[in-house]
Amino acid sequence: MTAPLLQVRDLRGGYGPVRVLRGVDLQVHAGELVVLLGRNGSGRSTLLKALMGLIPATGAAQWAGRDLLALPTHQRARLGLGYVPEGRDIFPHLSVRQNLRLGAKPAAGKAAAAWDETRVLTLFPALAARLRTPALALSGGEQQMLSIARALMGNPQVLLLDEPTEGLAPQRVAATVALLGQLRAGGLGLLLVEQKPWALELAGRVVVLGDGQARFSGASADLPHDISKTWL
Ligand SMILES: Nc1ncnc2c1ncn2[C@@H]1O[C@H](COP(=O)(O)OP(=O)(O)OP(=O)(O)O)[C@@H](O)[C@H]1O
Ligand SMILES: [Mg+2]
Repeated sequence: MTAPLLQVRDLRGGYGPVRVLRGVDLQVHAGELVVLLGRNGSGRSTLLKALMGLIPATGAAQWAGRDLLALPTHQRARLGLGYVPEGRDIFPHLSVRQNLRLGAKPAAGKAAAAWDETRVLTLFPALAARLRTPALALSGGEQQMLSIARALMGNPQVLLLDEPTEGLAPQRVAATVALLGQLRAGGLGLLLVEQKPWALELAGRVVVLGDGQARFSGASADLPHDISKTWL
């Protein structure tokens, strides 16, 4: 197998004195969908934030051999790390188009086909019809599309997604599942926080986070019963 794009070793971090991550090991390859599992409060969102540089962390996180932890958030994004946070972090008073443009970054490295507004809108026709609409006027499902569309405008090579289908109607969930499969087939690496059966089916690999460490990494079919019992 080729070298992972994102290689995390002994990652530690939290909120001031609250230590949440206590030595996490994790890898994501190009075109691989890794699902991050864990109980509520196990630190899944914290891990994504630490990878994006939104909270301080120590240990090692390498991006194609480069030290990610030394870089501020915007430089991590420029290298090709995308992020769709919990609760869809869009700018409510800006239009759909303005939100998309704020996410735009040139493709780093040799991206096969770079994402731009036209290509992103082909994927989300519902947004194309609402380009001048303020984001706050969108439905929950449309806001989720905008959040993913904006992340794609940044031309990520690995996309971190934090419970992207939370609160969505079943139809929209199904569309998101199809989309994630399509993005992965296009070579995107995905690190997905999602504890639903569809995520396990889609996963190339699952990682179980428990008490601040990765307790299991492998195919979801191989997840040992005692690991699920203790950590999920
Ligand atoms: N801003 C914060 N300040 C202090 N502690 C925090 C903060 N955010 C989260 N925590 C704590 O860190 C721990 C991990 O939280 P995190 O949000 O990463 O969990 P999670 O696995 O994403 O779970 P869920 O999304 O179900 O809440 C929890 O104990 C939480 O209370
Ligand atoms: Mg969370």
